[in-house]
Amino acid sequence: MRLKQVKQIDLTQLEALYSQVGWSPRKLQQLMRQSWLCLALYQNHQLIGFARVVSDHTWNATIWDVVIHPAYQRKGLGKYLVYQMIRWIKQHNVIHISLFAESRAVTFYQRIGFEVVANAKAMFWC
Ligand SMILES: CC(C)(COP(=O)(O)OP(=O)(O)OC[C@H]1O[C@@H](n2cnc3c(N)ncnc32)[C@H](O)[C@@H]1OP(=O)(O)O)[C@@H](O)C(=O)NCCC(=O)NCCS
Repeated sequence: MRLKQVKQIDLTQLEALYSQVGWSPRKLQQLMRQSWLCLALYQNHQLIGFARVVSDHTWNATIWDVVIHPAYQRKGLGKYLVYQMIRWIKQHNVIHISLFAESRAVTFYQRIGFEVVANAKAMFWC
């Protein structure tokens, strides 16, 4: 298993990984270009995990698109990926780390230390 910080990636592999978990891949190259940090996990040469961070580099860093290939889930790899991102963000002295969890991932994030903020509501312009 190999973890790599990536700026470019084989987009076919990334699209396949997103599709494996039901996401519709869209403009992935642009998403990566605009992200502060992208991490990729490889088994041999197969992309089996991915996650990225967007940030103002001072106050806020937001984690997006944490994904582990279904065949490799529940082996601690998602946790490893998120911890590596937290470590990197903290090394750069960014204060707040946030994310928007899909319902199916809430317990995962809670297990690794994230809390649902009771007195704050995520709001979106619709
Ligand atoms: C969510 C996801 C990244 C978790 O990755 P993973 O490698 O399977 O998770 P891990 O094995 O590192 O699990 C870490 C902890 O969370 C728990 N956990 C993981 N998935 C869970 C689930 N679906 N329900 C309950 N607990 C879960 C594990 O049991 C483990 O607990 P422990 O540390 O107490 O043993 C992965 O399931 C995935 O890619 N899902 C589809 C995409 C997705 O929804 N991403 C989140 C977007 S917000």
